[in-house]
Amino acid sequence: MTNLLFTPTTFAGVQLRNKIVYPPITTGFAESDGQVSDRMVEYYRQRASGGVGLIIVEPGVINLQAKLSKFSAGAWADAQISGMAKLAQTIKNEGARAFLQLCHAGPKANPRVNSVQPSSASEKPFIFKYPTISLSQDEILGVVHDFVMAATRAREAGFDGVELHAAHFYLLSSFLSPLINTRTDDYGGDNLRRAKIVRETILAIKKKLGQDFPVTVRYHGFEDGEYGIKYEDAIELGQVFEAAGADGLHISAYGVSEPNLVGIAALPSSCIPSKEHPNAPFVSHAGHIKQFVNLPIIAVGKITNPLDAERSLREGKCDLVAVGRAILVDPQWPNKIAAGRNVVRCIGCNDCINSLAKGALNCRVNRTL
Ligand SMILES: Cc1cc2nc3c(=O)[nH]c(=O)nc-3n(C[C@H](O)[C@H](O)[C@H](O)COP(=O)(O)O)c2cc1C
Repeated sequence: MTNLLFTPTTFAGVQLRNKIVYPPITTGFAESDGQVSDRMVEYYRQRASGGVGLIIVEPGVINLQAKLSKFSAGAWADAQISGMAKLAQTIKNEGARAFLQLCHAGPKANPRVNSVQPSSASEKPFIFKYPTISLSQDEILGVVHDFVMAATRAREAGFDGVELHAAHFYLLSSFLSPLINTRTDDYGGDNLRRAKIVRETILAIKKKLGQDFPVTVRYHGFEDGEYGIKYEDAIELGQVFEAAGADGLHISAYGVSEPNLVGIAALPSSCIPSKEHPNAPFVSHAGHIKQFVNLPIIAVGKITNPLDAERSLREGKCDLVAVGRAILVDPQWPNKIAAGRNVVRCIGCNDCINSLAKGALNCRVNRTL
């Protein structure tokens, strides 16, 4: 019943033992100087030993202004490479493969942590807590450079690839999203222009590290709101990333589209589907992109049931499935599903996401994170 899910595969040129991905989930377990902590290594070791094929480690932030919180993991300094290497090796020793997500928090940065005003594609407030400043073109070049240096450190640390975090309204996402990007220069306007910063980042990483080091992009396949990214935009963005040399896509979202809403009351706009959302509400977003882009695609979002996972693969909507909170709650989820055993279930309370505002990750069900 879960034949496809447990068939080995290749993603972005990397061999995986199955099609299950643990997506980036910030833990807040890093040290305040961005160093990987022992607690972080053990957290990921447990999840790798649970049988998952690929772990995309939580954001390694690319510079000191890019931190999401006081305890963000860092990829901004060479001194952080040895800790990253221990983490990557630990994951691989357990039979999983390891990517590092790279992120600049942009408009979602906390000025009290970073001592600078958060930066964004433009000054449009949207859902942000603090006022933002618009990046100049010189500053954009600096950001691209910092992404390249962070990717270089990730490769040196032994990660199998990097994922650019261009979702959830962090910096790269603020450029992609017409909900935020009101620029009138080369970095704003149509899809190609809004994608310019991501395109330049992919090209620059490939130029420095060669074509063999995988670079994938996480972005929104759909956004709520009249001006949000719609399917035709998401397809075009995927084609731009493909042409720039990206090796895979990871399709998150901000809300669900009309067809998904049939028979369901209006749902809150979200990147993290909650209790009220149906299962796997973002998979069809990935499916639309998959028809028009020749890159392997990861689907994500409340995929907690192996039958939903298998169906998404069988229907050709994606190539891999990411299982986040379900594996946060029960790290042995893949092994247990493969063996037909019961898993400990996520109750969708989202205490995990709320706990991050206070510091470290917490779970109401799994008290032993
Ligand atoms: C506590 C928490 C932290 C998260 N941190 C990140 C992050 O740092 N980067 C990211 O791209 N997504 C992050 N996400 C989103 C997840 O990667 C995933 O897209 C989301 O949880 C939906 O998948 P799930 O329903 O399987 O949990 C986070 C989600 C949670 C619950």
